[in-house]
Amino acid sequence: MFKINENYLKLPGSYLFSTIGKKVREYSEAHPDKEIIRLGIGDVTQPLAPVIIEAMHKAVDEMGHQETFRGYAPDLGYEFLRDAIAEGDYRSRGCDISADEIFVSDGAKCDSGNIQEIFSEDCRIAVCDPVYPVYVDTNVMAGRTGEYDAKTGTWSNVIYMPCTADNDFSPELPKEVPDLIYLCFPNNPTGSAITKDRLQEWVDYANRNGAVIIYDAAYEAYISEESVPHSIFECSGARTCAIELKSFSKNAGFTGVRLGYTVIPRDLKCGDVSLHALWARRHGTKYNGAPYIVQRAGEAVYTEEGRKQLSAQVAYYMNNAKVIYEGLKGAGYTVSGGVNAPYIWLKTPGAMTSWEFFDYLLEKANVVGTPGSGFGPSGEGYFRLTAFGTYENTVRAIDRIKAL
Ligand SMILES: Cc1ncc(COP(=O)(O)O)c(C=O)c1O
Repeated sequence: MFKINENYLKLPGSYLFSTIGKKVREYSEAHPDKEIIRLGIGDVTQPLAPVIIEAMHKAVDEMGHQETFRGYAPDLGYEFLRDAIAEGDYRSRGCDISADEIFVSDGAKCDSGNIQEIFSEDCRIAVCDPVYPVYVDTNVMAGRTGEYDAKTGTWSNVIYMPCTADNDFSPELPKEVPDLIYLCFPNNPTGSAITKDRLQEWVDYANRNGAVIIYDAAYEAYISEESVPHSIFECSGARTCAIELKSFSKNAGFTGVRLGYTVIPRDLKCGDVSLHALWARRHGTKYNGAPYIVQRAGEAVYTEEGRKQLSAQVAYYMNNAKVIYEGLKGAGYTVSGGVNAPYIWLKTPGAMTSWEFFDYLLEKANVVGTPGSGFGPSGEGYFRLTAFGTYENTVRAIDRIKAL
């Protein structure tokens, strides 16, 4: 008789966004005349930039000719893309990362979920609280998190690093030493960023304690302040303690196209075993590469025209962030984020819980956001709005909230 992976049964309730979807569907069915504005899920709304479309068309045509047709992509990604990434995201910023340390994938969600596979089952993880849920849930599936306490919303074998207004939404170095530390900056959901000096402290801590930092930089393109690093590899010593995850979803609108990459420096080792070799083995065994057409689209991101068009797209969303931030602040809300990230994190008014505020906004303003408590216990009393809507919808949503 077969057995299932019982760790899956430990996962509490349904996924945050399914619950939100259900509530919105039910409200919509009961009030078909109401027009709902969605500033909840972190999906983009602007179409792909012309430079991306052009690159994809060209690649599609190549696939239709005998001489230029491509089959399976190389396991780790095409060299043209890995070279463009190494130069565009690392060497140009003074980071010592080479093309052969970059693994191209179909996005940061898969990589952030799969990376834990190359670590021992008894590794202890540390996560920010609130947190992007994928890091925790995938470790639950792997049996690494202990038991769930529904009352506190925490796992017995996870080290939580609260990120609250008291520490400016930046975690303290944990007293109990973890083996794997998940950091995401600019942060989803709080929209906070980390300075290079502060990140250096994390790198030094990891090196001192033999821990690995899994650094999710999916929102790097939204950084606007000089003091905020674009990569953990800007910090000295990161090559021996850090893995970096990147996505093309938020800087280039690839949420439906699918492309990302992971950087594992060859100096990152456990004894004499290189993590690069383990991830290469995993990639080669379980993954057959991102599509050629998509990798060509990714290459276009790094061209001069690509950079111009995409920075205009990022500026469009960051203008929305400003509309949300200033509008809510003017209306008396306590808000943060929105400066180096497309997320605004607001304190729910009065003693309202995150879900109470969700229902209130849905019913009274017909605006959908994300309850902070869905990201972890320290998210209770907070609420996330995203800048990824259209400008028109963003303005209307904020006008409605201001009018409450
Ligand atoms: C922190 C973080 N990492 C990764 C992802 C997923 O990125 P991708 O679309 O590349 O899978 C998201 C998506 O919202 C995210 O917020």
